[in-house]
Amino acid sequence: MQTTVLCKSIRRIAVISRKYSSPLFYSTTTSPSALKKSIVPDHTLPPNNGQQRRPSRKPFKDLFSLEERTIVVTGAGRGLGINLASAVLDAGGDVVCLDVLPKPSEEEWAGISKVGEETGRTATYHQCDITREEDVEATLTNVASQAERRNKPIRGLINCAGIQQMVDAIDYPTDGFRRILDVNVIGSFLVAKHAARIMRDAKNSGSIVFIASMSGQIANRGIHCSAYNTSKAAVQQMSRSLSVEWGRYGIRVNSLSPGYIRTAMTDRLLEEKPEIEKLWMAGALLGRLGSVEDFKAPAVYLLADGASFMTGADLRVDGGHCASA
Ligand SMILES: NC(=O)c1ccc[n+]([C@@H]2O[C@H](COP(=O)([O-])OP(=O)(O)OC[C@H]3O[C@@H](n4cnc5c(N)ncnc54)[C@H](O)[C@@H]3O)[C@@H](O)[C@H]2O)c1
Repeated sequence: MQTTVLCKSIRRIAVISRKYSSPLFYSTTTSPSALKKSIVPDHTLPPNNGQQRRPSRKPFKDLFSLEERTIVVTGAGRGLGINLASAVLDAGGDVVCLDVLPKPSEEEWAGISKVGEETGRTATYHQCDITREEDVEATLTNVASQAERRNKPIRGLINCAGIQQMVDAIDYPTDGFRRILDVNVIGSFLVAKHAARIMRDAKNSGSIVFIASMSGQIANRGIHCSAYNTSKAAVQQMSRSLSVEWGRYGIRVNSLSPGYIRTAMTDRLLEEKPEIEKLWMAGALLGRLGSVEDFKAPAVYLLADGASFMTGADLRVDGGHCASA
């Protein structure tokens, strides 16, 4: 009698196992009725789920190409921004440079103009304060229609504009703290929002790259920059949050977090406190501070189709400064 019951049970388990032997059937302890409720049968999923935006197969070199598109770069009047703008041109794209400065840095702009003339690619410069939404919207609408006319629609943005300030937190003037958040967080958001609207309305996929900082994850040794560090942590989280909302439009959103780079921004800090260079170098695993050249390939990669499955990520490019900070 007991043997018959045991045999029946084994047969029943075998039937259930066959019935649920799909990749969704993971648990061996859950009761069959609970499993029936928890399993999503394939036919309830939307047709072609996960297949709709599958990238077409491309030659390897095209995975790093920005051809047939225009990329907007903010903070492109000097420093990291203008160098990333030049990388966009080198990678085959047209570039729209925005900055609050009336004119871009002459030497770098001369290089950009030369590449433009040699390759037939377009680079334009527009004075625009990213904290003024009307200016941002008007400028982006204008450059987007020019880009459409060139058959190189806007399909990317590098949000690089930013400001830094070294002040002891205990004495931080509220206005100063607000200004940092206004430019680094809200200004970056405004440009991302209007660029995303343009890409969504044109039904173009695209990529947004926020230039954050390792200071979004660590508090730098030797300098007191609580507002800046707070703003960069917010940029990383904003980028992650936008990736959740805009993936449905085919817009990828990632942040790139550099370590120390020699630019006007760090030159000013080093002028005020020359002794901190020694401290920074002590944490430099590659024995040097960053140069603007170090960020060209990572930024182009995030913009290009080779990163087609990358969104919501923070790419830290800091020469190991962060690991040892
Ligand atoms: N230099 C570094 O060590 C370092 C490290 C990590 C991250 N970053 C980030 O990289 C980005 C570029 O920094 P950088 O070192 O080239 O500094 P930078 O000061 O040389 O360049 C910043 C640019 O942003 C522009 N800008 C400032 N406010 C603006 C506004 N309201 N509207 C439009 N443009 C505005 C400035 O005019 C300037 O051209 C910043 O976001 C910065 O936080 C820099």
